[in-house]
Amino acid sequence: MHEFAPSDRTEREISRLVKTVVTPRPIAWISTVSDAGVDNLAPFSSYNYVSLTEPTVLFNTPNGPRSELKDTARNALESGEFVVNIVTEADIERMDHTSAALPDDESEFDLVDIERGESRTVSAPRVADATVSMECTLHDSIEVHDKLMILGDVQYVHVDDELLTDGQIDMRDLDTVGRLGGPYYTVSDPLPFERQF
Ligand SMILES: Cc1cc2nc3c(=O)[nH]c(=O)nc-3n(C[C@H](O)[C@H](O)[C@H](O)COP(=O)(O)O)c2cc1C
Repeated sequence: MHEFAPSDRTEREISRLVKTVVTPRPIAWISTVSDAGVDNLAPFSSYNYVSLTEPTVLFNTPNGPRSELKDTARNALESGEFVVNIVTEADIERMDHTSAALPDDESEFDLVDIERGESRTVSAPRVADATVSMECTLHDSIEVHDKLMILGDVQYVHVDDELLTDGQIDMRDLDTVGRLGGPYYTVSDPLPFERQF
């Protein structure tokens, strides 16, 4: 085995390794609204859930002075709200396009021509044709080295009726996309497995 401590490698090498081995990562397509009323949309794959009893999700982004935060982070902290829209195979191109670094007075919704859907409990719009969207309010933000972890409590959920079988989502019907290391995405291909335990 090749063995090493992270400190023996450059930041770039370690970052590449972690992003390659922590895969596939789910993608949160996060919509927010700025103080000035500009709707923002961007993908975040350093994303997961924490609590399930009171559902809580998190995403991570570079930390820094508020003026240098990504629009999504700044808006989530300032408004206390964000919406996680899930990404399916049909969305890959549009989702990727919304990672463009736009000035904070321009909206990725308009750049990529994505229809806004009305949210019920937060001001940020959702992606109208996302099959699932979760409206969140800020739970907390935690500094972790050079990153800021932003946690949100899920307050309201939108699910496309077509996904529901007896009121539940069947995983086989939800073609979520994952991010891999390098220039790769992956689509879900559920592998049936009888769990023993
Ligand atoms: C699939 C994908 C996943 C990404 N994941 C993250 C992430 O987890 N954290 C992050 O800070 N940026 C991530 N990015 C980059 C942001 O989407 C990009 O910086 C974007 O411009 C941020 O937009 P904003 O400034 O409007 O918030 C990702 C980009 C792509 C395409």
